[in-house]
Amino acid sequence: MHHFALFGPPASGKGTQAALLAEATGCITLSTGRLLREALAAGSPIGLEAKRFIDEGQLVPDDTVNTLVRETIAALDPATPGILFDGYPRSLPQAEALEQILRDCDGHGVDLVLSLDVSDEEVIRRLAARRECSTCGAVYNLVFKPPRDPGRCDSCGAENSLVQRPDDHPEAITKRLEVYQRQTQPLIQHYRDADVLVTLPGEATISEVQALALEAIHRFHGRQGSP
Ligand code: AP5
Repeated sequence: MHHFALFGPPASGKGTQAALLAEATGCITLSTGRLLREALAAGSPIGLEAKRFIDEGQLVPDDTVNTLVRETIAALDPATPGILFDGYPRSLPQAEALEQILRDCDGHGVDLVLSLDVSDEEVIRRLAARRECSTCGAVYNLVFKPPRDPGRCDSCGAENSLVQRPDDHPEAITKRLEVYQRQTQPLIQHYRDADVLVTLPGEATISEVQALALEAIHRFHGRQGSP
């Protein structure tokens, strides 16, 4: 099973690219943001604990997130061709935990980290216009990627289901950017040192980023001698 991670600040396009790459490669996506929001919607203890941190734009404690990831990976079908991590890891302790979880699962760590490079100005511009389908989670942008039929989800067809995420308000965005710079960005050097980092121009169009990401994945497979 291959282990790929999409890395970058809020709104760098991790979720958008994870969905496209999953379709193209057959990998499954594992988004800790989505898992936490689902836990919250289900009213589970993890979700209720996470709510305060998410609303404030802070990271949910490492132990909570690592446990969620370990449990999710343990429940995967072993025939899954690969995992695309979206928004995890986000701190050095999470990176170390992930390495251990993956080695326990199938003997090797993170294979490739795709880092999406996007400026703070672009993050703010994108988040103001982001909408998500409250039924299926599909992600849109009113400017760059609007739904074909306004107010209707292209993916699941739900009517009037496109909503703004509660943590996409200005104070939480500022906090999320600060937290990214302080706690998450140092992982770039960590993965550069491990020789698994590929940086992509996250401000290119969605399809250009997708093509570059797929190229990086194919180069990785070429080095491995795998399809
Ligand atoms: P999470 O849901 O992971 O949020 P995030 O990292 O802030 O990232 P986003 O989901 O906001 O953006 P994205 O990079 O996926 O971009 P998207 O594709 O949507 O986490 C939320 C919270 O949960 C965290 O703040 C934290 O509290 C907690 N959490 C999650 N993981 C955690 C962890 N590991 N540890 C601790 N806490 C954790 O795109 C954004 C917009 O831009 C969309 O409208 C899209 O259509 C548009 N867009 C995408 N690509 C392009 C492009 N190339 N050009 C133009 N527009 C584009």
